[in-house]
Parts: sequence; C-alpha cells; structure tokens
Amino acid sequence: MSNILRRGRLEAAPDKEILNYTSSMEADRWIFNADIAVDLAHTVMLKEQGIIGAKDSAKILSGLLQVREEGMEKLDFSYEDIHISLESRLIDLVGEDIGGRMHSGRSRNDEVATCIRLVLRDELLSLLEEILALRKTLLTLAEKHRETLMPGFTHLQHAQPTTFAHHLSAHAQALGRDFERGLEAFSRVNLCPLGAAAFASTGFALNRKRTAELLGFEGLLENSMDAVSSRDFLIECASVFTNIMINFSRMAEELVLWSSSEFNYIELDDMYASTSSIMPQKKNPDTAELMRGKTGVAAGSLMALITICKGLPLSYNRDLQEATPNIWRSVKTVRASVRIMRGMYASLKIRPEVLAAQATTGFTTATELADTFVREAGIPFRTAHQLVGILAREGCDPSLEKIDSISEVVIGEALSARGLTEKQVKEALDPESNIKRRKVIGGPAPEELKRYLKKEKTELELKGEEIATLRDSIEGSFEKLLALVEEYRKK
Ligand code: ARG
Repeated sequence: MSNILRRGRLEAAPDKEILNYTSSMEADRWIFNADIAVDLAHTVMLKEQGIIGAKDSAKILSGLLQVREEGMEKLDFSYEDIHISLESRLIDLVGEDIGGRMHSGRSRNDEVATCIRLVLRDELLSLLEEILALRKTLLTLAEKHRETLMPGFTHLQHAQPTTFAHHLSAHAQALGRDFERGLEAFSRVNLCPLGAAAFASTGFALNRKRTAELLGFEGLLENSMDAVSSRDFLIECASVFTNIMINFSRMAEELVLWSSSEFNYIELDDMYASTSSIMPQKKNPDTAELMRGKTGVAAGSLMALITICKGLPLSYNRDLQEATPNIWRSVKTVRASVRIMRGMYASLKIRPEVLAAQATTGFTTATELADTFVREAGIPFRTAHQLVGILAREGCDPSLEKIDSISEVVIGEALSARGLTEKQVKEALDPESNIKRRKVIGGPAPEELKRYLKKEKTELELKGEEIATLRDSIEGSFEKLLALVEEYRKK
C-alpha cells in the first residue's frame, strides 16, 4: 500500500463507499489555502527551533509553494482528508526523507482546528464588512425618509403612525447587535490551537507563540486538550449567523408583504423578482422568500453543530469532522444574504404616498388622542383609554362634541369643561404632529432621528476602521510569513 498514512498499521484499504463516508476532502476545499499557510508556519518554526535543518526546511517550503500553485485538484482524493493528501503530495515532490519531516510535533487534530479558525476568521471579517455596508444602506435610506409617514404595526394591526426612517433604523439597530456579536465571536476564533498536536502537545521543543504570531493570531488556545477538542467557537458563530438570518427573515417577510397588492408599499427591483410559468402577469418576490427560507439553513446548521458536539468525551473525536461543513454552509448562506439584502434595499422602489395614506387608517392616532385627554383635561390615562376605546368601538369620527358626550356618560363631565379644545383634538388626530411629539430618545420625531442617524453614521465609520485594522494586521502577518518563507527557501 502506498498510502503514507495507512501503510504501517492497516492492511485493508476502505472501499469507495467507506471512503466517501469517511472522507472530508470535499469540505476541505474550504481550508486548502489555510492548510498550506499552517504547513508553512509550522515548517518555519521547526527550522527556527532547529528541529529540522535549514536545507530540508528550504526544500519543504519550496515544495509547499508548488503544492499551493498546483491547487487542490492536483491532490489525491483517495486520501481521507486534505492534511494527509497534501503531505503526500509534498513527499511526491521533495521525497520522504525531506517531506516526511514536516509533520514533526504535529497532528491533524491541531492542524484542522487551526485551519478552520483561519478560514472562519476571514469569513467573519468579510461578513462584518458586509453588515456595515448594509447598515449604511439602511441608514442612508432612512435619512431620505425622515418625514415619510407610515403606519407602525403590532400584531400586524395598524397601531400608531411612525416614519419609514424609524422603521428602517430599527432593522439597522438590530444588525448593529449582530455586528457586535460577530466581532466578539471573532476574538474567540482568533486564537491558535497549533502545537497541541494530537492533544497532549509534544516532546519536540516547539515554539507555539511563534506559529501563532506567524499566522496572525491574537493569542494561544493554551490547554492542548481543549485546543483540539472544542468546537464551541463554531456553535457560537453559527448562533451569530442564525441571529442575523432571523433578523433577515423578518425583513424579508416585510418585503414580501409590502409588495403584495394589499399593502402596495414597495416594489422590488425586477432583478430580485421572478414570474410565473403560467400566470403571465405575476411579479413574485422570490429572492425575499428564499431569504426567509434560507434562515432554516442557518438554524439547521446550528442545530447540527450542537447535536454533533454534544456528549463527546475529550479529546479529539472524528465526529468533529462532521461538524465543520455546517459552519461553511451557514457562513456562505449568511454572507450572500447580507449582500443580497443590501441590494434589495438599495434598489427598492418605495411608495411614500401609499405609506402616508395608510398612516392613519385603523385609528392609529388613538393613543395620542388619549394622551391629549390626559395632558389637557387632566384625567387619568386609564380613563382616557376607556373613552377613546368607546370612540373606536363606535367607529365614528372623533369630534369634541362626541368626546364630550361619551365623557359625560363615563365620568359625568365634558372634557371641554376641563379645558380640552377642538384644536387640541385635531392636532392629536394629525399623524404628522403625532410623530413630531415623539421626540424622546429613539422615537420617530424627524429631529430625533436626525440625531440618531448622525450618531449611527459616526459609529459605522469607527467600526469600519476597527475591522480594517484587524484585516491589516492579519494581512501583515501573512506578508511577513511569506517573506520569511522566501528567505528560508534560499538557504
Ligand atoms: N478531517 C479531520 C477533521 O476534519 C481532520 C483531523 C483528523 N484526525 C484524526 N485523528 N483522524 O476533523
């Protein structure tokens, strides 16, 4: 048997079905470049520690660059994973006497954990950048619609007037928390398990800090047993992704509802729509529906991760291989969704006149009317709530006369006798003045939203810089690693 992994201990090779069942090669496409980087960093460190000689390490490093150049397709897919297949390709290129030294003091267990973290780290940064861009799109749109009235809903019933800007900012704020969660998850992903070897570390004098530094990690995952066996960082990220998708499913649901004839608030750009194969008039919001549906992919990946990791004894177990593809499926779905949501909103046709016309249907100004009774006639809110409730039940236009006749029955006194005027009633029923009054922090008043949007935009800029710094530092480490590789290759 020429299989460099099995030839010693095992006699029979797995048949095709067993290999398909046990191999991670397809999912490992995600970690091809990361695995090369891990191999390069490990080899550089082995050389610096005098564990392998300068000549051997030079050949290994050159071989690794060649394997990188050749790409994943050159690898032998009859191996069970990329790590051993890549090592085998290296040995093909530089011979076993040299290439066979690379895996000193290392196991595929710390190797794979490091690779997953490297790739996930990049994916997280890209995702965070994409979330920032989406938040910016929402806030820019909100700026344009600070005065655009619309009905706000609770229980999907018209509740109170608000503005489109207020509604959009709500989504932007929720995405702000998703961003923060992603950034915190990043800090726990960005730790290096390399050097843990199989689980008990190694007797070779490895320099773990050096490989962590070469790979641009923020620090080490110290305990070597935990380093190879924990996948809580995957569960944490999958949970962050699921939250984003849950938020998107709400936004997507609105886009679907709002583009129906019943609402008619918006129209999606044709790019995001489909039509029917039988009903030629149809413009269906398929992209938004699919986003609502793909939320299930993220939630399902999270459930799969949790279930796979549950009850595993320390330390490494092969079950963990089954966990990894779930994070790739989830991150791919969520990143595409962020970009597509941004596109849908950036190209959205909004109908401000329909939104405004609907702002008062369903007596949405009832709360302000009751509040006005409290402020102007000095009655308790609970009593005002009853009076306006009776008005609503009777379905009549609330005039001062009508209000007085009801209050005479309920409290034995006309509200006009307590100071309520026709003008105050009219103002309470005006959606615009409803909005203007709601100027407490976070309310829909256009001046309050102006403040809020300005603050949020500054926040976005700061966060953008924070992400750029993280990216620069990672890219800087890789440049340094590659420069070292070039230097050591010449020795
Ligand atoms: N493909 C494996 C995984 O994803 C790599 C580690 C294999 N380790 C082992 N002891 N078989 O987990």
